[in-house]
Amino acid sequence: MESVNLEVLQRFIRLPGILLILGIAACSLTGIQTPIAKPALTVQPAQAPTLRSLAQSRRFYIGTTVNVNALRDEAAYSATLAREFNMVTPEVSMKFSETEPQRGIFTFAQADYIVAFAQAHQMQVRGHNLVWYTDLPAWLTNGKFTRAELITMLRDHIITEVKRYRGQVNIWDVVNEAMGDGTLRDSIWLRGIGPEYIDMAFQWAREANPQARLFYNDYGGEGLGRKSDAIYALVKGMLQRGVPLAGVGLQMHISLNSYPNQKDVLANMQRLAALGLEVQITEMDVKTQDDARPMQAKLAAQAQLYGEMLQTCLSVTACTAFVMWGFTDAHSWIPAFTGRPDYPLIFDALYRPKPAYFALVQALSQSTRVGVK
Ligand code: XIL
Repeated sequence: MESVNLEVLQRFIRLPGILLILGIAACSLTGIQTPIAKPALTVQPAQAPTLRSLAQSRRFYIGTTVNVNALRDEAAYSATLAREFNMVTPEVSMKFSETEPQRGIFTFAQADYIVAFAQAHQMQVRGHNLVWYTDLPAWLTNGKFTRAELITMLRDHIITEVKRYRGQVNIWDVVNEAMGDGTLRDSIWLRGIGPEYIDMAFQWAREANPQARLFYNDYGGEGLGRKSDAIYALVKGMLQRGVPLAGVGLQMHISLNSYPNQKDVLANMQRLAALGLEVQITEMDVKTQDDARPMQAKLAAQAQLYGEMLQTCLSVTACTAFVMWGFTDAHSWIPAFTGRPDYPLIFDALYRPKPAYFALVQALSQSTRVGVK
């Protein structure tokens, strides 16, 4: 068993260089902006099975968000990424402010770079995201637009972005964080278009790529409670209206002091699955900054949470991916977001696996899962 895995792994490891070249060639043929070529990666064979090899043999996706600058600049970053994951989510490169900084002028260089890397390494891309209340360009937030203009602008944005990556990005977070604590969150879209902006966004994404699996993605609705009930009601209504919704992303930004319990996460996944929806954990990280215990105890508690969440996902057939919001503590959004240092991810800042990494290895190894929905 071990030797078979290693052989597969070694074959894997020889592929990236060739695939990177093929990927770049394919991109130039299709007219997609070609990223500046980098020397072929030398991904070191791991001693033990990697997260990726364990997930792959279970036809499951293990993923992370990607910081495009680290991907370009740090060999350890790209090598670890290719070795450990089979799914990536661009951290900022596909957001509205990045992709349409001027009205009607699209910039896809960063997103293209990530997509080319993913293709070269046979990774799935979760497109993130098309409609959000924040990270919008100034021309949009400072402008005054009629409802009809907003509809045209949002439609053009979605169609242009989704079409560009047809065949390369087949999962999209179409609408991100639209829910408040029970009612829809205020945003330029809700105010300017009305609640129907959500259904419209999914219809446009479907029009641009009929093959893509379209997700609603949010935080704070992972377990049971007012927000997850509201998300449940929202997506159930969308399905009843015939909106092309394939799944719900549960972000899972949690901390050692605040997290949903496993039973509730399981129940929530099951009720979404019962609607016929796919579920994915899309942005997991575990903050440690509010916990007073010594580091070793914090890392053990963090490992347990990662392991349990993955186990819960693996136990539900409809849960098809487990994605973290980064993989190395050297590049997490949490310190900038909270203004305090933190260690929320599964590799330390020197790319050494933390206890949380081994908890994920264990959860995958113990899973008897054989296929995706
Ligand atoms: C965050 C990025 O990590 C930051 O770099 C950026 O400045 C702001 O957005 N929920 C989401 C993600 O859906 O898009 C957010 O990403 C984190 C919270």
